[in-house]
Order: sequence, then C-alpha cells, then structure tokens
Amino acid sequence: MNNHKLLRISFSGYVVLLFVFLMGPTFAGNKSKNLISYNFDVTNLKCEYATNPMGLDVVFPQLSWQIESEKRAVSQAAYQIIVSDSQAALSTDDGNIWDSGKIKSQRSSGIKYDGKKLKSRIRYYWKVKIWDQNNIESEWSSPAFFEMGLLDQDDWAADWIGDLPKWTGRVQYFRKSFSVVKEIQKARFYIAGIGYYELFINGNKIGDHVLDPGITSYNKKILYSTYNVEDFLLRKDNVIGITVAPGWYGVPKLRGQLEITFADGSDTTIVTSGSSQWSVSVGPIIQSCIYDGEIYDAREEISGWNSDVNIHNKTDRVYQWKNVVVVNPPGGIMVAQKQEPIKVVDVVVPELINEPKAGVYIFDTRENMAGWASIQVEGDRGSEITLKFAESLYPDGTVNQENLRSAAATDKYILKGAGKESWEPSFTYHGFRYIQVEGFPYRPTKGDIKVKKVRSAVAETGRFSCSNELMNRIHQMVQRTEASNLHSIPTDCPQRDERMGWLNDMTVRIDQALYNFDLSRFYAKWIDDVEDTQKEEGSIADTAPFHWGFNPADPVSASYLLLALQSYNFYGNEEIIREHYKGLKAWVDYLYSRTENGIVGYSRWGDWSPPLEYSLDGTAVSRDTPGKLMSTGYLYYCAKIISQMATILEMGQDIERYNSIAQKTRAAYNNKFWNEETGGYGSNNQACNSFSLFLGVVDSVNIQSVVENLVNDVIEHDHHLTTGNLCTKYVLEILSEYGYQDIAYKIVTQETYPSWGYMLANGATTLWERWELKTGGAMNSHNHPMLGSVDSWFYKYVLGILPDISNPGFEKFSIHPLIFNELNFAEGEYISVKGKIKCAWEKRAGFFNLHVTIPENSVADVYIPTKNIKTITENDQRLNKRKEIKFLGQEGEYAICQVGSGDYNFKSKCD
Ligand code: BGC
Repeated sequence: MNNHKLLRISFSGYVVLLFVFLMGPTFAGNKSKNLISYNFDVTNLKCEYATNPMGLDVVFPQLSWQIESEKRAVSQAAYQIIVSDSQAALSTDDGNIWDSGKIKSQRSSGIKYDGKKLKSRIRYYWKVKIWDQNNIESEWSSPAFFEMGLLDQDDWAADWIGDLPKWTGRVQYFRKSFSVVKEIQKARFYIAGIGYYELFINGNKIGDHVLDPGITSYNKKILYSTYNVEDFLLRKDNVIGITVAPGWYGVPKLRGQLEITFADGSDTTIVTSGSSQWSVSVGPIIQSCIYDGEIYDAREEISGWNSDVNIHNKTDRVYQWKNVVVVNPPGGIMVAQKQEPIKVVDVVVPELINEPKAGVYIFDTRENMAGWASIQVEGDRGSEITLKFAESLYPDGTVNQENLRSAAATDKYILKGAGKESWEPSFTYHGFRYIQVEGFPYRPTKGDIKVKKVRSAVAETGRFSCSNELMNRIHQMVQRTEASNLHSIPTDCPQRDERMGWLNDMTVRIDQALYNFDLSRFYAKWIDDVEDTQKEEGSIADTAPFHWGFNPADPVSASYLLLALQSYNFYGNEEIIREHYKGLKAWVDYLYSRTENGIVGYSRWGDWSPPLEYSLDGTAVSRDTPGKLMSTGYLYYCAKIISQMATILEMGQDIERYNSIAQKTRAAYNNKFWNEETGGYGSNNQACNSFSLFLGVVDSVNIQSVVENLVNDVIEHDHHLTTGNLCTKYVLEILSEYGYQDIAYKIVTQETYPSWGYMLANGATTLWERWELKTGGAMNSHNHPMLGSVDSWFYKYVLGILPDISNPGFEKFSIHPLIFNELNFAEGEYISVKGKIKCAWEKRAGFFNLHVTIPENSVADVYIPTKNIKTITENDQRLNKRKEIKFLGQEGEYAICQVGSGDYNFKSKCD
C-alpha cells in the first residue's frame, strides 16, 4: 500500500509527523531581502461567502477574505475586522458596530461576526487588516458591505395575493401603479412569487435572476430576493408589474414589499394586499409548466401592462384586470435566498443540421445542456412555431423525446404579425441537445434560434487536462453534466419529468462538484432543504425538497452529513456543522434505531444502477451487492463523521457515543459480510470489497486479500466496472490508494462497454444515467451526474490537490500527484477560498517537473516523486539553497516538502 489513503479519504485528515530535515524555522521571501519593503493586500472580502450581499438574514454572518502578495510564503498571524453603520465611520476606523481588536489567528474564512445586534434593512460597512507571520501590518482592505434583509417575520407587512380560480394553471400578471413626489434616497423591493416570478418596474425587468426563487418545501420556507430599485423610480407615476407562474408550487402566489426612504427622512411602503389597488389578469403566457414547456400567444400581449399607469382605461383585451384576492399563505417562513440565483450564464448559436421533413428543422447545439431557446422571427399573425427539445434523434432525423417520459418539453410561440418578433420562455427549462423547429414561416438562418444556458450562477472553480485526450473529454463531460444540474438544488437530470435532488446520488457527487464549482452558498441552502424533510423520529427523505422516493431515505444518504462536513473542509464553514448538528445526529440515531443485530434492516437503492447484467431482473438495483451491506456500511461511516464533528465542535460525550456506535456497527458488518473462504466481503465483487476498504472496516490481517480480490476482479472483467452510482467512486479511489493507480487508469480510459469512453464513443456529451446506451421511455437520462465521480479522481489522484480537514478552508493542504505509467503530463487548478491552487506536472527523460501555485495564507505539503532528495531542484537551485522550503521527510517514492504561498518549479529525478 502506498500511504495516500489517510490523506484523501480519511475521516480525520492526516497529520504528517515527520522530522524536519533541512529548513529554516520561518518562511522567508525570495524576492525581497528587505522585509519592510514588501506589499501585501487584503482583498476579495466576502460575507456569507458572497460579495457585498444585500438582503441577508443571518444574524451572525461569516466573513472571509484573501491576501495577495508578490512575495512568497506570506501568511496571516493575526487580523482585525471593523464593522460600522456608515461609510464615514468606517473611513475614520470607527468600528461602532464591531471592532474585533487584533485576533491572533491564521483563519481567513468562516469568521463569525461577533458585534452588536444587527438590524433589519441596515447596510453595514466593514474592512479588515492583517498582520503577517513577521508581525508586519497590512493596510486596511478596501471597504465592503453587507445589508440586512427582513430579519423578523413581523417585518413583512405584505399579504399573500393571488389567483382567481378560473385561471388555474396560468401565469398571472399582477400590477399596481403609484406616485412618487419626493426625492428618493433608498428603495428596496423584497419579493417572493411562487412558483416563479419576474418583477418589472416601469417596463424594466429588475435584476437578472430567472426561475426565481429557488425551490424549497414551501410549507417550511419561502425564499425572498432583495433588489435595489432606486434607479428604476425616476418618474412621478410608476407601475409595478409582476408575472407569477405555477412553477414547482402549482398555484401562483405573490408577496412583495417595496420600501422607499426619501431624502427628507420620511418613508413609505407599498405592499401586496387585497385592499390597495393591486390588480391581476392573465396575459400572453397561456401555459407554463416546468416539464411540458411554455405556450406564448403574442396576440394576447397587453401593451404597457407593466409601464402604463392608465392601462385600466384600455378595453382592447378579452381579459379584464380584476382586483386581487388575499390567499392562504403557503405556510413557510420567509427566508432570504442565500444561494446564487439562477441566471442565463451563456448564449450559444446552434447549427441547423437537417430538414428531415419539409418545414421541420433540426438544430444541434453540439452538446447536451440545460436552458431554453430564444427565437427571432417575422411572419403572419396567428402562425404557430413549435420548438421540441430532445437529447437524441430517431434514425429519420426527427427528435426522440421518449426518454423524457411524460415531460412534453415543447414550447410554442404564436405570432402577433408585427414585423420582427423575438421571444423566449420565462418559467420553464429543458435539458437537450437538439431542437426541432416546426411552423417557422421560412427556413431559419443562423442566429434566428439561439440557445441560453441556464443554471444557478455559481462560479466555476476547477480546471483539468492531461496527456490523455480521452480523460480530458471525460472531464469536460462530467463538468458539463454537473453544470446542467444546478438549479437551486442539485438535480438528478434536467430533461425528463423528474429533476429531483436525490440524496443517494449526492453521497458521491459532492466531491466532484466541490472541485468544479463554488458551492459554498448552494450547499448551505440545500442542506436546509434536506433538514426540512426531516421527521421527528430523525428520518429524512430520499429527495429534497421531498417530491419523489420515500421517507425514510435509503441509508446510503450520507450526503446530508457530507454537505456539512465538506463545506467545513473546503470553505472553513464551521457554522454549517453547528447549525445542522442536531439534525445530522438525529439521522444517524434513526439509522441506528433501524438495526437488528447491528445490521441496518432496510435498503432501497443501494449501489444503484450498475451495468444491466449485474442488476436485478432489469431493474437498477444491484444483483450482487447486498443492500444491507451498503446500508450498514453507511451507518458506520456516518457515525464516524458525527464523532468527528463532535470533535470539531468540542461536544465531548458525543465523540465517545458515536465512536462506540461505529465500532459496534463495524463488528456487526464484519460478522455478517466478511467471508473467510473468499477473503472478501459480501459477494466478493468490486463494490463490496472497495466499499469495505474505503470504510476502513477491514481487519488489518485481511486487507491484502481484499485488495487482491478487488484487483483480480477488475482484471477478470478486462478492466471494466461492475459497480453502480456509489461504488464506482470507491473502486477508483481504493485501487489508487493501494498502489494500483495504473489499473484504475485502465478502467478510466476504457472505451468499450461499460465505461465513460463508451459513452463518448456513442456520442455522449454529458453523462448517461445507465452504463448502456438507451433512448426509450424509462430511466434513460443522458444528462445525469451520478456516475461522474471519476472527475474527483482526476483532481484528487492525478493532480493530487487535497484539502486537509484538520486545517479547513485550505489553510493547509497537500499536492500529491500519483505517477501513472501511461500519463506524461497533467495540469489543472482549483480556486479555493484562499485563492488559486495550481498543479502542473510533466515526466520527461527520467525527470519529474512539478509546478505548483500555493495561495497566500496557505501552506502545502508537496509530494515530489523521487527516492533521492538530493536530485530535487527548485527554479534550478538545489533545495539546500532554498531556505523557504522545508523538507519534511521521505515517504516511499516521495520526498515531502512544505512550502508557503507562491509559485514553485520543482524538478526531481525519478525512474
Ligand atoms: C433518479 C436517480 C436516483 C434514483 C433512486 C432515479 O429516478 O434519477 O438519480 O438515484 O431514482 O431511485
């Protein structure tokens, strides 16, 4: 075994206890001899992981920042934060709301505000300065702010308004006109329209959110957004127009409140209510459904509905404006939307590739994605254009929508016949590669159809490429699949009649997703959704929000715990553990309550969706991997995690309690599933053995035989997997942990069934749900992240970028690339909370070149492949000339050097 195991998959991180060999005691700069003359800046200030957020409702928000310097090995020894209630106070360094004083700490993310009680609606300004490891003080950072939203439910004066029964299922158009006669100093719109809304003032769309707000269990929580609307209220007579669609809620309901403060100090609030001249009608969106699509009849447009104060006097419409009615509240409390809103993140122009029948045009975006199409057209009033979305084509060239099951995924536009018309849907989205356009008045030309990619606007954080082109394509395929499945929850697929946040899939998806995207806010929201499904007895549901599956969820749903643990690990967010600790424990207690003789007594999905020949009678349940093995293994895993969390939170007695549950479960697991005869677990297949090794439950005397059985099984299958959504991850990781990374590499680069290469060879651009190519009307999604854990393997084992949970938020981490016979180079990066981490390596003529970038205020253990430390150079100089590099010791094939921030070019001899 090589010793990577604990580093990459342990519960408790890894402490390198190796002797210090070369090195000076402190890090020193290589660029500047005069310490006083160097500069470092405190930048990228964030509050609750967002830049200058508005409408925050966290009363002790977490603050973070980064440090930038030209010099190497810069780290923070202390910081000071001040928070003021005005820019003026802040500029005189008057922290009248909070002055942390000088705090000795290296932490620069997840720092909890600890000042005066924060008040609704107030904008607070803040800045930070730090002291470096030599006690040199930085300048104050540029100021940042956070603005509070409505902290108390009583801050909401607005009623929920809605619907007239005969309009059930339609988008409703709400409007109100009002006058402003005084100079405005500040104006905020707090709004929640469920399922989805769009807000307009005087004809202008406010903000760039689409499909807002994020989905929740509406009887528990409703997310509201906050907009600064000062710049839209520049005239005396104003009109608010709001469209509200059924979305995931089903019946449009609206609650909003516009709060205006005038320059003279007075204020006014305009709220949705039954008594203040809000009116409602229906309009051109005559059908709106997430799954089926949208129908827009442009002849039904009501010109000026959201900008013209006199609309009521106009009679050229069939539908009249009605008074709104106050409706029953949906039940949930009002909560500020903390995650990034869904937005249009990219626009692409698809190619017209075929006209399989006269007037039927097929457009190809060249990649599967989530979003919608916009059209530009000119034609006769009343003519209809239909857009059908699909992931595949029939042999005759038309779109095959069978695998969307009951989702019609069809949009329709009916022309008003007024010259050039442009349209795109507002409240639906599709998962597709192909668009079939029918009824276009002429052959569309390039650009008449455009495609908008739509998803939660989280930042991309990962990049990977290497000397194997197939691996590069697999990486892009996984990244694209993840991107298509971030729609305020991590969905299983974007196209068919499902789109649920499945907790079983997420147990292995989280790692991949965390490398590729900044999910600091996204997961903080989704874990709330999971907790909202939790019952008194501790059980959670299979999907969050709960629409599909069961409650209790399959015990493989360790994702509930991992959302918190990995947010702590990657982002230094300790609060997320604290906040959810009770619920997380209750889930583990629930699983424990379901044990009989230590074995968890139920399973539903287990290692879901292995290749068909290893599935039970044509289902997606594994034939050979006992469900109860998976369930019991995850109880062990989760109990260990709780005990680790208890250590982090210093919850003394829980450490013991959950360790003891873990140990009892381990004993029961071994008792039931260890097979002395085969020297393996369960059916001795890839899943059972890799999972047992991953858990760390295998007695040390048996490890070798379990590893050998795993390796032999993979070889017997000619380097193909027999695993489903969960154990695929463990097979690759365990092989690599035990020194068989070249075998893992062969699995990864396989091109025959079942493999990722097979998907690509058959035209996949996003991951399939099944290892088989299937296009019929069942579980056959072509954009399904659950088999994508190979991508975290690229980051963890090929680049070797590994967070260290004992020093969360990348305060310390490792760069530990494995060496592969058939790979010559790899390079990539991960944008961490501390800044950019880079790793690029190349094998050439017996030498290993390793280029790494370590962000400021971070320390990395860099694993340099060589048996002879004396062969290592950095920037062409021997290590003993590089005082800022500490040699920690030799570990097998690697020399371990510890470095502070900066760019380093290592070269070592390795044969
Ligand atoms: C989902 C999968 C999920 C499974 C569990 C399917 O419908 O698409 O992602 O793992 O259900 O039953």
